[in-house]
Amino acid sequence: MHSFRYRDGSLHCEDVELGALADAHGSPLYVYSAATIRDHYRRLDAALGELDHHIAYAVKANSNLAVLRLLAAEGADFDIVSGGELFRVTKAGGRAAGCTFAGVGKTREEIEYALREGIYCFNVESEAELRFIDRVAGELGERAPVAVRVNPNVDAGTHKYISTGKSENKFGVDFQDIEALYARAEAEMPNVALRGLQMHIGSQLTSVQPFVEAVEKVAPLAAGLKAKHGIEFFSIGGGIGIIYEDSLASGDRRWWEEGARGDARPLTVEEYASAVVPVLKPLDMKILFEPGRFIVGNAGVLISRVLYKKRGRAKTFAIVDAGMGDLIRPALYQGHHDIAPVKEPSGEAETVDIVGPICESGDFFAQDRVLPELAEGDLIALLSAGAYGFVMASNYNSRPFPAEVLVDGADAEVIRKRQSYDDLVAGEAV
Ligand code: LLP
Repeated sequence: MHSFRYRDGSLHCEDVELGALADAHGSPLYVYSAATIRDHYRRLDAALGELDHHIAYAVKANSNLAVLRLLAAEGADFDIVSGGELFRVTKAGGRAAGCTFAGVGKTREEIEYALREGIYCFNVESEAELRFIDRVAGELGERAPVAVRVNPNVDAGTHKYISTGKSENKFGVDFQDIEALYARAEAEMPNVALRGLQMHIGSQLTSVQPFVEAVEKVAPLAAGLKAKHGIEFFSIGGGIGIIYEDSLASGDRRWWEEGARGDARPLTVEEYASAVVPVLKPLDMKILFEPGRFIVGNAGVLISRVLYKKRGRAKTFAIVDAGMGDLIRPALYQGHHDIAPVKEPSGEAETVDIVGPICESGDFFAQDRVLPELAEGDLIALLSAGAYGFVMASNYNSRPFPAEVLVDGADAEVIRKRQSYDDLVAGEAV
């Protein structure tokens, strides 16, 4: 479910008109729907109902404090990958004691900070890191709760940059080496407490098959580690894919793309749950899930205004005021984002490239896309931009970060101010 739809001739987020938000707060502008975020969290939680489960929202997908606060209020825990994310979680009112800390390169400062805050578990990605955590914990007179991330060598069938569960990826410890590593930890590392086992095979998975394959392969390992070392949880990571095509709410099929697509089908949480729960339930362990994109992806859009139209010999370009610095997914992963005019279109369609102002040929949002004819000054919405959108923004070309707004019913709050030029140079010295 999501809450972006045309009403009275213009695109709304819940009860708020997007054009009015852009007029009030400028563009480019990220807009998120609180109702959609809550709905996705609750649907996943309900689908996993019969398992002893915890949802550790992957903060990296969208780490705005207001989004974290909203999820904490729903009862979410958090999967973090840096000291900065831990800081955000606690600042937003989330529990450090519910945080799992992933990532291949944790620093001493981050490990000490997480120990001081009392996180739930470090998800460890190598033996070297495990030994280092043992040392740091020992120096602080603490015992660090740890889980090792197993790399199950399963093909997630997703873009190679967001595929993590194959032996050639930098993530986790090879499946065959896990048992020996837990034995060494037990024997040689007195300052770690073996608390769980973790895996994550990749992101934006649109088929349930790789999840099933990985869970079936790793569940017996988890059972063995529970019997031998008394681990209490098994985290199966995140990765549930969303639809990026045909992503407007049903009933709003766009006439300008009639017949072009229409077969896009999301991986539903019910489908996901009914495939993995039967394998996980017999383990009789706490099962962790680390969804990011599923919770927030379809809950956000990036609004941008057309600055210029340019008709070249080969192509027509609509140059907009958002660029790859605001949303890098098309440039980095050839990611597709549907584009919808904010004012409901009725005229002619044309084939255009939607490009940003940044001095890079990779700065585009769409190439040869059939869209309703856009005029200078028109607003567009880049859909499904709630995950890995703002969080991956950069100031390249010295362009300030856009503002972010959270809509809840008829209410709309700025949850991050647009950066000013002073913000851009803050901390620099001549
Ligand atoms: N857990 C771990 C250990 C992860 O590395 C990730 C994502 C997640 C959970 C959450 O995965 P999700 O449910 O969101 O698929 N920037 C890329 C995605 C990078 C994902 C990195 N890890 C993109 O825009 O597609």
